[in-house]
Amino acid sequence: MKKLLITGASGFLGYNLAQKFKDKWEVIGTYHLHSAHISGITPVKIDLTKFNDLKTLFKETRPAAVIHTAAISDPNFCQENQNTSYLINTEAAVNIAGFCSDLDVPCLFTSTDLVFDGLNPPYSEEDEPSPLNKYGEHKMLAEIGMKNRCASVVVCRMPLMFGRSGSTASSFLQPLLRRMRSGAAVNLFVDEFRTPLSGKNAAEGLMIALEKLPDIVHFGGLERISRYEFGKLAMEIFNLQNANLNPCKQQDIQMPAPRPRDVSLTNEKAMQMGFRPEPIKASLERLKFAF
Ligand SMILES: NC(=O)c1ccc[n+]([C@@H]2O[C@H](COP(=O)([O-])OP(=O)(O)OC[C@H]3O[C@@H](n4cnc5c(N)ncnc54)[C@H](OP(=O)(O)O)[C@@H]3O)[C@@H](O)[C@H]2O)c1
Repeated sequence: MKKLLITGASGFLGYNLAQKFKDKWEVIGTYHLHSAHISGITPVKIDLTKFNDLKTLFKETRPAAVIHTAAISDPNFCQENQNTSYLINTEAAVNIAGFCSDLDVPCLFTSTDLVFDGLNPPYSEEDEPSPLNKYGEHKMLAEIGMKNRCASVVVCRMPLMFGRSGSTASSFLQPLLRRMRSGAAVNLFVDEFRTPLSGKNAAEGLMIALEKLPDIVHFGGLERISRYEFGKLAMEIFNLQNANLNPCKQQDIQMPAPRPRDVSLTNEKAMQMGFRPEPIKASLERLKFAF
């Protein structure tokens, strides 16, 4: 089997990718602070911001393809720790593209809907990035820098994702369900919209991207939905009658990072490539027995 290097295997998406790819590829999965024990993959501990360690990783593993998911993806943390964010979200990503270029292998980069300002949704691959916060800006700079370093970089812009994870990570769904089960008030925006996608569907999309190798592709889910509507759906499907959902507006809650209102992504190009995401309801029904 050919070797696939997945960075961030201890993360939410990395876990889902490892599940999807490990039967067809020899998967090497990196982790940093959270030891990733995913059966069927080879874990490697590394700080990807250390250039010499990265060089050694590529020299020793010589992957046939790379999926770079490792990142710090909390916009508020990135806003308050801009140097840390830049080092992993931009610089490490560009260095990884450089090593992929040296080996002449494809490199998928999981970017984000947050490269857009949310004023002109839905966003297609033709739309120009216009990030509102540092996280979005650093991911945008990574997209540009990686493409400059390596022609075979595939920019995969991902929407808000939810679903199963290994023990070392979580999506936004797990803490949402915990809080809903506790009966504590859950503030959810009625004026913030996304096109969410399950981790399983995201991994399926990225597998298609690795086969087709487009320059850039958006993996929007099937539906545009507010955070509050998502909470109501989860409440119904997980049968959480006592959940205390509190509809609120973005302006009601101050956070370090500015938040775009609607960064819905299109998926026409991905669908033409064979991407077939489930409706959110179907994904949640499937996950009902996992949590
Ligand atoms: N989750 C979403 O809804 C969403 C939406 C759009 C785009 N994305 C993008 O999708 C990708 C995956 O997101 P995710 O939710 O799976 O993230 P996550 O669960 O927070 O996982 C992040 C991963 O990055 C690793 N990492 C962080 N700093 C590192 C460093 N200095 N050296 C090596 N590894 C490091 C972490 O390792 P340790 O935990 O072991 O330290 C972890 O494996 C990211 O590129 C993100 O920008 C995510």
